[in-house]
Amino acid sequence: MAEFAGDSRQRHTLDFTTLRVHFEKIFGGKPRVFRAPGRVNLIGEHTDYNEGFVMPAALGFSAYVAITSRPNRKLAIRSQEFPGEYEFDLDNLPAKRTGAWCDYVVGVASVLRLRGYELAGANLLLHGKVPIGAGLSSSAAIEVASALALLSLGKTELSLPEVARLCQQAENNFVGARVGIMDQFVSCMGKTGGALLLDCRSLEFKFAPIPADIQLVICNSMVKHDLATGAYNTRREECEEGVRYFTKWNPGIRALRDVPIELLDQHAKDLPATIWKRCAHVVRENQRTLDAAAALTAGDLVRMGNLMQESHESLRDLYEVSCRELDIMVDSAQDLPGFYGGRMTGGGFGGCTVNLVREKNAEDFAAQIRERYRTATGITPLVYLCSAQDGAGELS
Ligand code: GLA
Repeated sequence: MAEFAGDSRQRHTLDFTTLRVHFEKIFGGKPRVFRAPGRVNLIGEHTDYNEGFVMPAALGFSAYVAITSRPNRKLAIRSQEFPGEYEFDLDNLPAKRTGAWCDYVVGVASVLRLRGYELAGANLLLHGKVPIGAGLSSSAAIEVASALALLSLGKTELSLPEVARLCQQAENNFVGARVGIMDQFVSCMGKTGGALLLDCRSLEFKFAPIPADIQLVICNSMVKHDLATGAYNTRREECEEGVRYFTKWNPGIRALRDVPIELLDQHAKDLPATIWKRCAHVVRENQRTLDAAAALTAGDLVRMGNLMQESHESLRDLYEVSCRELDIMVDSAQDLPGFYGGRMTGGGFGGCTVNLVREKNAEDFAAQIRERYRTATGITPLVYLCSAQDGAGELS
């Protein structure tokens, strides 16, 4: 059976009630509860930190943070899923990750303090429903929900895009992962029924509607290869090397986003082969993402599906961030009824694929891809039937 992660109003109510009951048992008092979703990226992969375009959607899976204030300067943090009771002094927060699950919360608090925002002492209880290590941004969801919760007790009002930026900083400077803005942004700004075409330079965005009879079928390969973090940072450095090269030809180039496809092609033989491949992926992926938004908006699912396939091939052959399991999952989908296109999603080296599938075929699609993947790899995948949902907010 596939897991449904689609419409989530009922599920949020359930999570909200359970969380409040647990909170009362642990800390006492009636907390406010904030929710932030995980995401799936339809196209535009490894383009966000190149100041390019991405097209993610927020999902029905969310992280929840319940909070009440305390009369002192302490931050007490507990989780429904993980053991341990953490307590920090608000005026003496760590500046770097500690390796504990509470890092994402403390990181956000620490960045808020560094920016000079007043924070009140608080009790927090976390409840994470985004699958962990699956490339669906469970950490961004915790960061965003924590930021909204912590800000709710203070005097500072930040817009949701500012919250996204702040959470990205927590991830970059506190946790130490050099991620782009995509995950935190869509967790804040996602909208039911569509993906966001986001310009990661200006943070302007447009809504790209997903037809109501299309399901986002997310297939979890259940693998996460160790390479993930190291290779992510290497890719970023390779992109930076590409930018340094192209700046020599045009000083106006600040990021790979600025490199025209013609300039890229003219220099195919001059750059070291690996650097050229990385640049070629990013430059063309940006164009694909713009084309995909136009295709979705025009309701041209065949074109959208083809662009997703091209994106996967480019991530596999040029950016080299796919892996055997993800390729098998993508190949397994190809001739299934109702399927328009699919690709790996997120950073890569494991995690999930995302597939556009006609709703009436989605259950069968899930059953067949599970069987095919299990036969080819010996691993039983999880398959989630999803739709685009709203971004973060308070539950009441
Ligand atoms: C991870 C990062 C994002 C983005 C993707 C690749 O999910 O968190 O910022 O770079 O990889 O597109």
